[in-house]
Amino acid sequence: MLFCSLAFVLLLSFVSLSTSCTEQERSSLIDFRDGLSPEGNGGLNVSWINSTDCCQWEGIFCSTGGVVTDVLLDSEGLKGSIPPSLSNLTGLLRLNLSRNSLEGSLPAELLFSNSILVLDVSFNYLSGPLQERRQSSNSGLPLQVLNISSNFFKGQFPSTTLEVMKNLVALNASNNSFTGSMPSSVCNYAPSIAMLDLSLNEFSGTISPEFASCSMLKVLKAGHNNLTGLLPHELFNATSLEQLSFPNNDLRGILDASNLVRLNNLIILDLGSNGLSGNIPDSMGQLSRLEELHLDNNLMSGELPSALGNCTGLRYITIRNNSFMGDLSRVNFSRLDLRTADFSMNYFTGTVPESIYACSNLIALRLSFNKFHGQFSPSIANLRFLSFLSIANKSFTNITDALHKLKSCSNLTSLLIGTNFNGETIPKDEAIDGFGNLQVLTIDSCPLVGKIPLWISNLTKLEM
Ligand SMILES: *[C@@H]1O[C@H](CO)[C@@H](O)[C@H](O)[C@H]1NC(C)=O
Ligand SMILES: *[C@@H]1O[C@H](CO)[C@@H](O)[C@H](O)[C@H]1NC(C)=O
Ligand SMILES: *[C@@H]1O[C@H](CO)[C@@H](O)[C@H](O)[C@H]1NC(C)=O
Ligand SMILES: *[C@@H]1O[C@H](CO)[C@@H](O)[C@H](O)[C@H]1NC(C)=O
Ligand SMILES: *[C@@H]1O[C@H](CO)[C@@H](O)[C@H](O)[C@H]1NC(C)=O
Ligand SMILES: *[C@@H]1O[C@H](CO)[C@@H](O)[C@H](O)[C@H]1NC(C)=O
Ligand SMILES: *[C@@H]1O[C@H](CO)[C@@H](O)[C@H](O)[C@H]1NC(C)=O
Ligand SMILES: *[C@@H]1O[C@H](CO)[C@@H](O)[C@H](O)[C@H]1NC(C)=O
Ligand SMILES: *[C@@H]1O[C@H](CO)[C@@H](O)[C@H](O)[C@H]1NC(C)=O
Ligand SMILES: *[C@@H]1O[C@H](CO)[C@@H](O)[C@H](O)[C@H]1NC(C)=O
Ligand SMILES: *[C@@H]1O[C@H](CO)[C@@H](O)[C@H](O)[C@H]1NC(C)=O
Ligand SMILES: *[C@@H]1O[C@H](CO)[C@@H](O)[C@H](O)[C@H]1NC(C)=O
Repeated sequence: MLFCSLAFVLLLSFVSLSTSCTEQERSSLIDFRDGLSPEGNGGLNVSWINSTDCCQWEGIFCSTGGVVTDVLLDSEGLKGSIPPSLSNLTGLLRLNLSRNSLEGSLPAELLFSNSILVLDVSFNYLSGPLQERRQSSNSGLPLQVLNISSNFFKGQFPSTTLEVMKNLVALNASNNSFTGSMPSSVCNYAPSIAMLDLSLNEFSGTISPEFASCSMLKVLKAGHNNLTGLLPHELFNATSLEQLSFPNNDLRGILDASNLVRLNNLIILDLGSNGLSGNIPDSMGQLSRLEELHLDNNLMSGELPSALGNCTGLRYITIRNNSFMGDLSRVNFSRLDLRTADFSMNYFTGTVPESIYACSNLIALRLSFNKFHGQFSPSIANLRFLSFLSIANKSFTNITDALHKLKSCSNLTSLLIGTNFNGETIPKDEAIDGFGNLQVLTIDSCPLVGKIPLWISNLTKLEM
């Protein structure tokens, strides 16, 4: 009994000795709490009790030595501004204030902290330009992860700020209002950077050749900006890239065959909604890890290279709204595991490639607004997960045949087959007994003759 009590007392004193935070740390946190607006303090005015050890407070984590290392207050409904006093936590490694309603600027004391490794202030109302580093110092900051996405930051990305971030691994500045040229020099300063997300801003100008030094970069996203010009050769020196996404810009020029093949780690290539021209080079077939290819809404042309059939990991392809032509059957799709394929709004001819019916996991297929002809193959029944099919526009004949074959795709929810079957009679036979999941059916502008058939009234899930 005595021994146990003694052990307990020893244990207690050990715990309190080792985890108690300092007076300085406690007052920094109290200062942060009291700077929040009264209606947005996340209950911290109650749960952070002044007289107790701040290592025990909600959202505060300490090292075994009692140093505050983590302040994790994401999604706490916090309102008000971020006071610089948090930087008085000299052992702070991780600060997460994501998904609150914090406003004002991001204090320079935090951005240029000498201890913080991970700083996440995403999804707030922070505004103004990103602070510039005033006194220049050659020693790099420890910061590895900076997430300032989804705020109201604006202005140019200051190079004096990047200069000191020598250990940066991930920078997410997406969904703000940054202007000027992309902070491409980041790779010169932070050779280990692996992720750079600049999408949804107002960056302009051309893509800098400086990206050549991004040898560790795996993810580069800069979609929905105002970038112009060509994809520079140097960009393709960043051979670790797994994701290259520049959709919704104003990029021009072609996809160069010998450049493209250098990015043989690519998993996602998204250059949709730009002004790219030329064809898809054969070398695309050598991107053996490619899973997503988005080249929609460009000015590209020519035939699809049959080598595309070698991209066996390809799951998602859209080349919608270009000027591609020729027989789509040139590509053997049978080794691909496509889930979504959009070939619409081009000038493809021939019949629907038989090999596409081998992609048995296909969920959505758009072939509309091309120059296909003929009927479906009975193999379409193989597409048992097919949920969306659009073949609108003057390509197909024999609606009776089409419906009898398509009814085997029992998971179809949307079937868009208008502007085909010119002048045919809509079948009224009761053998059309599938389509139980159909929610949207368009057979407009064919024009069909006959009576609206009764089997349509059996489509109990039909909404449109
Ligand atoms: C933070 O540190 C500065 C300088 O060391 C000091 O002036 C200030 O009072 C401290 N603030 C808090 C809230 O502890
Ligand atoms: C804490 O803040 C809430 C919300 O503003 C307020 O209703 C409450 O009275 C405060 N409690 C204390 C102990 O200050
Ligand atoms: C909190 O503690 C500090 C120092 O321990 C003290 O100066 C301050 O008055 C206290 N505040 C409240 C509201 O108790
Ligand atoms: C911050 O917290 C959010 C949860 O709201 C989490 O999703 C995010 O991953 C955290 N940030 C970091 C850098 O760990
Ligand atoms: C912010 O970005 C970092 C680095 O990519 C990431 O770990 C973190 O989860 C992101 N935060 C949120 C809320 O998504
Ligand atoms: C960057 O943050 C946004 C949220 O603001 C998120 O949607 C996006 O996935 C993040 N980027 C990366 C590459 O993780
Ligand atoms: C994008 O660039 C064009 C031409 O350079 C300019 O007219 C337009 O205002 C810019 N848009 C934005 C959102 O910056
Ligand atoms: C890019 O890579 C090529 C071929 O490996 C090399 O000759 C060239 O010097 C590199 N350019 C830059 C700017 O690093
Ligand atoms: C596909 O790859 C194989 C070997 O990996 C190669 O022999 C063949 O020529 C390639 N096919 C096309 C169409 O490029
Ligand atoms: C049909 O679709 C639903 C929902 O998309 C899915 O849960 C189900 O597994 C599918 N069934 C078949 C046979 O594909
Ligand atoms: C349409 O297809 C059906 C069989 O699916 C066939 O019996 C019929 O002759 C075809 N009609 C025409 C005009 O080719
Ligand atoms: C509607 O469905 C019922 C029950 O499945 C079936 O008996 C009937 O023949 C169908 N009617 C038409 C017009 O297809």
